[in-house]
Amino acid sequence: MRRRFFVGAALAVLFIAGVGWFAPDAWWAMVVVGPLVGVGVYDVTQRHNTILRNFPVLGHLRYFFEFISPEIQQYFIERHTDGMPLSKNQRNLVDARADGRPATHPFGTEHDLYAPSYEGLRHTMYPVDPPTLPRVRVGGPGCSQPYEASLFNISAMSFGALSSNAIRAMSHGAAQGDFYLNTGEGGLSDHHLAGGGDVVWQIGTAYFGCRTRDGDFDPDAFRERATLPNVKMIELKLSQGAKPGHGGVLPAAKNSEEIAKIRLIEPGTVVRSPPGHRTFSDAEGMLRFVDRLRTLADGKPVGIKLCLGREAEFAELCEAMKRLDLYPDFVTVDGAEGGTGAAPLEFPDAVGIPLEPALSAVDRLLREHGVRDRVRVIASGKILTAVSLLRALCYGADLCNAARAFMLAVGCIQAQRCDTNSCPTGVATQRPDLVKGLVVEQKKDRVTNYHAATLEALRDLLAACGVDDLADLRPDLFLEPNHWRHGRGAT
Ligand SMILES: Cc1cc2nc3c(=O)[nH]c(=O)nc-3n(C[C@H](O)[C@H](O)[C@H](O)COP(=O)(O)O)c2cc1C
Ligand code: SF4
Repeated sequence: MRRRFFVGAALAVLFIAGVGWFAPDAWWAMVVVGPLVGVGVYDVTQRHNTILRNFPVLGHLRYFFEFISPEIQQYFIERHTDGMPLSKNQRNLVDARADGRPATHPFGTEHDLYAPSYEGLRHTMYPVDPPTLPRVRVGGPGCSQPYEASLFNISAMSFGALSSNAIRAMSHGAAQGDFYLNTGEGGLSDHHLAGGGDVVWQIGTAYFGCRTRDGDFDPDAFRERATLPNVKMIELKLSQGAKPGHGGVLPAAKNSEEIAKIRLIEPGTVVRSPPGHRTFSDAEGMLRFVDRLRTLADGKPVGIKLCLGREAEFAELCEAMKRLDLYPDFVTVDGAEGGTGAAPLEFPDAVGIPLEPALSAVDRLLREHGVRDRVRVIASGKILTAVSLLRALCYGADLCNAARAFMLAVGCIQAQRCDTNSCPTGVATQRPDLVKGLVVEQKKDRVTNYHAATLEALRDLLAACGVDDLADLRPDLFLEPNHWRHGRGAT
């Protein structure tokens, strides 16, 4: 292949030189034509790509347009309401709130409120003053260091998936706004601690940051980090919505000295996160491990994160909680609509239960087993506006996390290149030339602003609904889809 490339280049040089010799006036035109001749020779002689072999030079246009198709989609085709994963209106809302601009919308809704899917909020004729939002205590009787959490926090995202500057901006922003930042399964880094705020340390199946050389759980390494003052809670990750039951691979190229040091792995090697945990394989084993982690962490709250797949398994877990009198302090329910840095398409498209049915099942099962008061429920999955936050609270969440919304707050433009290391905004890349474009000093305020404005909007919605106590929230605060066609008027 390399030989063919040099032959192509040599022919191009000869071509330019030949034209320059016989027709000196056309020499400059050949500076353009010559390389194209070289590319053409290379294309027809290579064997890897059929399109380029059959359509030399021109075939590259196909790959160029494919490369910029997300931008074409976003700039020219996408309407305000139908962009995916997040619509233009949603992205603009985060941007305005992060900038401290009013997030008002002119002229009226762009949605069809007569569409079968419309689930409007039932406001009251007698609004109240916007209520003060409570902090939520996480940590049952087994915890000597319970944590008072904000209603809205930053969901798990690893250093490695995100850049150092993105994480630093989130860390400072969360500290300024008094909410927590979850480390993701890639270990606890100095970037997560940079802002000096509250951190939830997540532990995945590879036990990054608390593992032996062979990938087993290392209690000493765990204790060393879990007892740091900024680490307020520990989250044991079973799965995430975008790729439930799928581990991950850290490519050797991304396994830098810095990342290896944080994760306790050999730099420059390929490291796999297995799909499941080595330390347990059933409900009892998991609860005993959670209890062990809590003891090692000097009584800090320890919870689990999962995307629900089978209700029966969660019912079994609730039974085991009661039988053993052992409880996770919280369960984070991640909807199948959740985001990721990278996953095989089958997983985000077709595995797992979306947030609202999963959340209501988890809430119901905890209640049915009489353990709901021992376990806090945290929700994540496209929570980005105050309405989505309120919906999650109505469906059984005690508090919420968001990942992609905070990525937007630090500058993500949904270019969807997170898995290529070429994120143009410096958010999801490790390339220093791109990371330097993300200025921590500026983005940290956007993180704080977006969080504060979203909670302010939540207070306004609660006021419009006449709710001054979050304990009163129920799913029927929202219309059922298509409710009047079923003959059930608003109550
Ligand atoms: C870039 C990126 C990296 C993520 N890394 C992790 C991770 O390490 N651990 C985890 O449990 N979830 C991870 N997630 C999932 C998020 O924490 C969150 O659960 C999910 O994206 C749903 O939230 P969202 O819809 O607000 O993005 C990641 C998501 C993104 C976008
Ligand atoms: S801007 Fe960066 S972080 Fe955002 S979607 Fe694109 S590649 Fe991913």
